[in-house]
Amino acid sequence: MKITVVGAGKYGSTTVQRIAQAGYADEVVMTDIVEGLPQGLALDMNQSRPLEGFETRIVGSNHYGPTAGSDIVVVTAGKPRKPGMSRMDLLTDNAQIVGGVAREVASSSPDAVVIVVSNPLDEMTALFQKVSGFPAERVIGQAGMLDTARFQDKVAEKLGVSPLSVEAITLGSHGDTMVPVPSKVSVEGKPLGELLSDDEVEQLVQATRDGGAEVVALLKTGSAYYAPSSAAAKMVAAVAKDTKDVMPVCAWVSGQYGINDVYLGVPARLGRGGVEEIVELDLTESEVEALRTAAEAVRSKQADVDGLV
Ligand code: NAI
Ligand code: 2OP
Repeated sequence: MKITVVGAGKYGSTTVQRIAQAGYADEVVMTDIVEGLPQGLALDMNQSRPLEGFETRIVGSNHYGPTAGSDIVVVTAGKPRKPGMSRMDLLTDNAQIVGGVAREVASSSPDAVVIVVSNPLDEMTALFQKVSGFPAERVIGQAGMLDTARFQDKVAEKLGVSPLSVEAITLGSHGDTMVPVPSKVSVEGKPLGELLSDDEVEQLVQATRDGGAEVVALLKTGSAYYAPSSAAAKMVAAVAKDTKDVMPVCAWVSGQYGINDVYLGVPARLGRGGVEEIVELDLTESEVEALRTAAEAVRSKQADVDGLV
């Protein structure tokens, strides 16, 4: 099993470390345009192997040769946000970067399942699929896993319970039209609506939508990467091990929830072929409406992106 991570910045390098430490891949290749950066990080990570007890070999490169024939590719190349910036402010610069990466990956790893994380996420996932020409089920975006984890953690902090006792899901876009789904939140099996007032739930929903910006405002020089890399690594593991687990991801929707032909955050079953099924949850009317609003917002931005490459 060979896995490539494109971009050896904060998100890329932590993702490489998490995947390699899990031990199921033979090789993880990390590429970046900055000379020496992926090589230096690979050397450092390889030297942690005797201490951490894993054998996966990590390779750093400034070109795509060593990535050839990868089974899975994670795309983290691109600029992160600075305080005050929205993810959408990254659109023009990152479209050029992700478009270039898509062409390289299409020729070096034509059979790969690709997981895109570069922002703005929904638009960059659509752009990667279009430029690469890969079937839509093999190009997936990571956002819902992270946004869901943030929702779970915020609920847990509010109620003073273990984050592991909170079930939740977040759908829609990785942006202002994110759809955290309160009707599907439970804490130790109890519905959230029995534990908190409507206003308190709405505050948690908004805090989840603002979760990325909250970290950016504190860090000042970039965006979050510990929880994001955990989210991407979970998706990589599901594909690599063909687990068929259902996860909230950015996937091509064609008819489900009454929504057609757009990349959007929905629950999907992941396996060796990428997205193997979009799962339709029983949502409330207002949640379905919010999902459709998110779909239309993403659709109009995706049309703008089409003009950029
Ligand atoms: P970073 O600035 O630490 O790293 C980005 C890396 O991409 C840099 O090392 C840069 O040299 C490299 N790069 C630029 N152009 C490249 C190219 N053509 N080929 C290969 N590498 C290239 O940024 P960070 O924190 O790693 O974030 C990466 C992206 O992930 C950003 O767009 C950020 O907004 C996004 N992100 C997405 C999240 C999500 O949930 N989907 C969560 C957190 C970040
Ligand atoms: C995040 O949600 C900025 O997309 C990035 O942390």
